[in-house]
Amino acid sequence: MPRTHRRTAVLAAAVVAVPLLLTGPATAAPPQEPDRPDAEELLVIGHRGAAGYRPEHTLASYELAARMGADYLEPDVVSTADGVLVTRHENEISGTTDVARHPEFADRRTTEVVDGVEVTGWFTEDFTLAELETLRAVERLPEAREENTLYDGLYRVPTLDEVLELREELSRELGREIGVYVETKHPTYFDGIGLSLEEPLLADLDEAGLDHEGAPVFLQSFETTNLRQLDEVVDVPLVQLVSPTGAPYDLVAAGDPRNYADLVSPEGLAEVAAYADGIGPDKNMVIPREADDTLGEPTSLVDDAHDAGLVVHPYTFRNENTFLPADLREGAAPDDYGRAIDEQLAFWATGIDGVFTDNPDTGVVSRELFEDEEAAA
Ligand code: G3P
Ligand code: CA
Repeated sequence: MPRTHRRTAVLAAAVVAVPLLLTGPATAAPPQEPDRPDAEELLVIGHRGAAGYRPEHTLASYELAARMGADYLEPDVVSTADGVLVTRHENEISGTTDVARHPEFADRRTTEVVDGVEVTGWFTEDFTLAELETLRAVERLPEAREENTLYDGLYRVPTLDEVLELREELSRELGREIGVYVETKHPTYFDGIGLSLEEPLLADLDEAGLDHEGAPVFLQSFETTNLRQLDEVVDVPLVQLVSPTGAPYDLVAAGDPRNYADLVSPEGLAEVAAYADGIGPDKNMVIPREADDTLGEPTSLVDDAHDAGLVVHPYTFRNENTFLPADLREGAAPDDYGRAIDEQLAFWATGIDGVFTDNPDTGVVSRELFEDEEAAA
């Protein structure tokens, strides 16, 4: 399907707001003009903000992403003990905060089983928001991203609410609508401990006026059940994240044998399209690596997803050699920058509809080069 027609079809696939499994007040969406970023544009999604340049999931990281030109900011969300959504990639926070240096929280260190895996550390669900606000974010990859450690200790763990406020302020200041692309992390796990993520997510979106059709919002998850539920109650586009291996944990927990490979078969994609508007695949599912780690040939995934009416936003594009195919690395150091723009040009050429990137400025440049090439062709 031509790009324009496909996107129009996909983005027109809004659902009627009907409260079903989720609790909380039902909110009738007021009629409003769509104010999303141009749906025909290829999207640059600031992964965890601008995680290549600032400690991830901090307001500073999100702000920089917007200023670099990202269309969407990508918060991953988990819950505090008092049911507030905060932005972290994991509920275990020793890798991205200074919690280990707080003696008053030493006795909170514990072991949990998250999605079937034993994890030891400190967990957001064991902290109230007030307690969590005493911590400071640190760089996840201090060796690879040494410059980012300049900012260690400066920033709090933000609430989703604060990110939505920042989005609004920056949209006003920059004169363009900046979107949010929110991922719920470990939804089955959080359901199991009585801290379901979807209700506070919908409440936060409602409060920010972002729960209506046309709002600049995507919601995404590696699980399926929560997306199916959200599809019944919210009018914003949903994205099914998929991985080269493994299975959605909600299906594992339910004894359902389907895995991610099943989800991305043509039949699986048709099923996904019944509740979602796009897929977010690992980039290696779009263009796999060869045995020598060089970039291979594209799979049929983009075409298959488009045939099912789904947009495709692969993750995660990063500038450093260690994340690039062998033939696009420059120099010997794994944390030196390689030819990330060339990598992204190869991916844009497959027909993808957006990129999750830790380096939104690189994403903006590669998109512009690709669009120039397309226009000249
Ligand atoms: O949500 C897209 C991408 O962020 C998925 O991977 O692990 O970085 O959340 P992750
Ligand atoms: Ca994510």
